[in-house]
Amino acid sequence: MEFLRREYPDFGHGDFRTSSYEIVSSKAHTLSGIKYEKYECFKGRDRVFGMPHVRIGSEEEAETLIIHLYDSFLQIRMKIFYLLLEDYSAIVRKVSFENISNEPVKASKLMSFSIDLPSASYDLMFLKGAWSRERHVERVPLHKGIQSIGSTKGSSSHTFNPFVALLDKKTTEHQGEVYGFSLIYSGNFLALAEVDNFDITRVMMGIHTQGFSWVLKEGEVFYTPEALLVYNNEGLNGLSQEYHKIIERHIILEKYRNDVRPVLINNWEATYFNFDEDTMLTIASEARNLGFDLFVLDDGWFGKRNDDKTSLSEWTPNYDKLPNGISGLSKKVVDLGIQFGLWFEPEMVSEDTRLYNENPDFVLGHFNYPKSHGRNQFVLDFSNEAVVNEIFERMKRILNDSSVSYVKWDMNRSITEAYSQSLSKEHQGEFYHRYILGVYKLYEMLTNAFPHILFESCAGGGGRFDLGLLYYAPQTWTSDDTDAWERVKIQYGTSMIYPIKSMGSHVSAVPNHQVGRNTSLKMRHDTAIFGTYGYELDITTMSDEEKIEVRNNIEFFKTYQNLIHHGKFYRLLSPFDGEAASYMVISECQSKALVYYSHGLQVPNAPLSNLKLRGLDPAKKYRIHGAKSSHHGDELMNLGVLFTESYFEKDFIDNFLKPGDFKSLILEITEIK
Ligand code: DGJ
Repeated sequence: MEFLRREYPDFGHGDFRTSSYEIVSSKAHTLSGIKYEKYECFKGRDRVFGMPHVRIGSEEEAETLIIHLYDSFLQIRMKIFYLLLEDYSAIVRKVSFENISNEPVKASKLMSFSIDLPSASYDLMFLKGAWSRERHVERVPLHKGIQSIGSTKGSSSHTFNPFVALLDKKTTEHQGEVYGFSLIYSGNFLALAEVDNFDITRVMMGIHTQGFSWVLKEGEVFYTPEALLVYNNEGLNGLSQEYHKIIERHIILEKYRNDVRPVLINNWEATYFNFDEDTMLTIASEARNLGFDLFVLDDGWFGKRNDDKTSLSEWTPNYDKLPNGISGLSKKVVDLGIQFGLWFEPEMVSEDTRLYNENPDFVLGHFNYPKSHGRNQFVLDFSNEAVVNEIFERMKRILNDSSVSYVKWDMNRSITEAYSQSLSKEHQGEFYHRYILGVYKLYEMLTNAFPHILFESCAGGGGRFDLGLLYYAPQTWTSDDTDAWERVKIQYGTSMIYPIKSMGSHVSAVPNHQVGRNTSLKMRHDTAIFGTYGYELDITTMSDEEKIEVRNNIEFFKTYQNLIHHGKFYRLLSPFDGEAASYMVISECQSKALVYYSHGLQVPNAPLSNLKLRGLDPAKKYRIHGAKSSHHGDELMNLGVLFTESYFEKDFIDNFLKPGDFKSLILEITEIK
């Protein structure tokens, strides 16, 4: 057992590596012993309830293999599910456990999958970070023993993303073998790689074991979250392209696959809590004139919320600020000719609210012990169905009563004191998973009740950017950090797995509110267009020239929106390897491309750089807007684009070539027929 490659390893019979599940039997032992029973194979996929999963349009798109196993020590029937996606080199995995004994058993570990790969010589790639610097790329060699990442924060978190990749040592961005592993899940997760002394690498992923236990009563079944395993032999970029396509086709709701997302203006960084109806209408009306599609009212519109200490869970308008309520304001905004969007933080409660004081059992934490606040707020017990229903009713009332076409669902703190007053003592270990199931339940209820509303998920910026939430909300606020150069890094890392169209990205004010940096409006725009595109600054105080620039920027984005959101994406230069970053999108027929290039600090006396493009047709001739002559695809890919005055028209390149920090360029490339 010690040197076998195993598929879903048990424990106790000579395989001393990490096991994929752990269950304490009613006889208090953990001995497990799986026996094969049978298999079944069918077109399409099994039915799933209450959990985000890989969607299948028609039965032809996938095939399912289920291996039936039986653990005679534990009296557990297990099924390992393999869903093969017809058009992709991807396998979706999960496991179910059914207690067929006469007594309850308690699980302390139920991983979604385990796989043993035949080499010890891999690099591990993952996305790490913190608030305002999410999903930075890290690649480290695997060593003997265990390496792991995960989250115990109650959300998938800013710290690590539920995604890892194993790369052959020689694999680069554009060539070589790579295996991607991601969890379709938004709660606590664990991703683990273990290299043994027989040169086998075991990888597994699932719900984090810390604080986790699950009581399986007689006859009950537990399903793990699904994991999406993707293979590619064209490097990391090939893996990303595969993930992007799978997510667009099999995770995101079909109606959002080819839709045109609204260009939005959000008032958060423009006003924070300090606004009234007039200020909002002035911004909305100016936004309408500049070509925006959607005005979003962020935090501060409800209860008596003038700072972050109060009113969460009171989803009724702050009439001091908004005398006509959300109903009146939203209708006035819509009358201006622009859609209206609204912010909520459904999972949270403030101490000064009726809900907190009259329903203390709705608040997370043990009544005998102090509860830690985070951003002055407390967490509602979403493992309790009554809480989810109550919040649904409150949100429904306001959404029914107004003209809202977009909702930003925020979540601004990690979970601590994870004790639910609605769960009995045997079931406390189920809290974290039940909490996230409650979040999914509310998403399900809201998206069913309001199918016309576009949801954007958010968690203090990008603290819950994962496939679980993309299943319900097709875009996620990528980070609270809107500084252009920091955003390049965050969006570059995020693109490893998530499609460009899923990344909320805004132009914000300078000096930037997170890092105090000054960057040009051009660089902020160039960076934000590789996402859903929006603004988050006070447009009413901009100069006329700036307003013209904003109008042109929106027009530019709309011209290229389809290409950016549906084109093939290539990363060209990593901001984690130096001071420059570059990526591009190209149309399916290779006739149109858009290239992003920027640098951070100016390198003195820098060498002449040639930016090698990707994905063009070698034989086609292309015109680069601003370049002096046309070039064939092979030349642009092998020799590259030269950022010099002899290559480009002076007008186009002059400003970029002048020494200075934080500069960017967008290259528009069109085939010459
Ligand atoms: C955190 C979000 O990421 C911000 O965009 C903003 O909505 C604030 N919360 C509001 O409190």
